[in-house]
Amino acid sequence: MTVKHVFDFNEFPVLETERLKLRDMLPSDVTALLRHFGNPEVVSFIDSQPIKTIDQANEWLRWMGGFFAAKDGLRWGIVLKDDGEFIGSAGLHNWNREANYAEIGVDIAPPYWRQGYATEALKTLVQFGWEKMGLNRIEADIVKGNMASMRVLEKVGFKQEGVLRQRLRKGGKYYDVYQYGLLRSDHIARQA
Ligand SMILES: CC(C)(COP(=O)(O)OP(=O)(O)OC[C@H]1O[C@@H](n2cnc3c(N)ncnc32)[C@H](O)[C@@H]1OP(=O)(O)O)[C@@H](O)C(=O)NCCC(=O)NCCS
Repeated sequence: MTVKHVFDFNEFPVLETERLKLRDMLPSDVTALLRHFGNPEVVSFIDSQPIKTIDQANEWLRWMGGFFAAKDGLRWGIVLKDDGEFIGSAGLHNWNREANYAEIGVDIAPPYWRQGYATEALKTLVQFGWEKMGLNRIEADIVKGNMASMRVLEKVGFKQEGVLRQRLRKGGKYYDVYQYGLLRSDHIARQA
């Protein structure tokens, strides 16, 4: 796979899948962001508490927009193509241009779980990573017990590579974190 132009952050890229549109998150999304990241089920496996106010939703919006501004990652809002409903977010972050890797992450609102949306979104992000960012490796850290995330990553072809013992501290407790990785060569082999 040859990369013709490495993504240059001139314009936020809109991606489309069969059922989803992945686009930049906008100030008009803050109410949806509050509902989404205010849901304890959405943040239960990350190093964060549910947000409670519009101010906090605005902070998250600025934080997620900051990846693009700093040119070291992108966080897309995920909306349904049919009706424009905001159902989650996904991103490629911490782009390391020396070693050509980045981290991937996704969250979907609980009413939309188990309908294949996360898998659909991640497949598109992975493709974007190879084709537009010229990545050689994509990785993810998943807290022990987050079976849904592990399954999604495995469906997309990621391999579990190791465990970082007690890597996450949340609510005064330590949790083991599993490291997952997908190489460009794994991806090509899967397609062959
Ligand atoms: C992880 C998450 C994004 C999965 O979203 P989703 O849209 O429901 O995932 P999909 O529908 O694409 O499911 C993919 C696979 O995972 C399986 N799966 C989904 N939820 C599961 C669960 N709770 N336990 C076990 N497997 C699960 C599905 O059955 C499917 O596998 P299958 O095709 O073999 O049946 C969603 O649960 C979520 O947002 N969780 C909270 C946020 C989070 O933890 N994000 C990850 C942090 S990096």
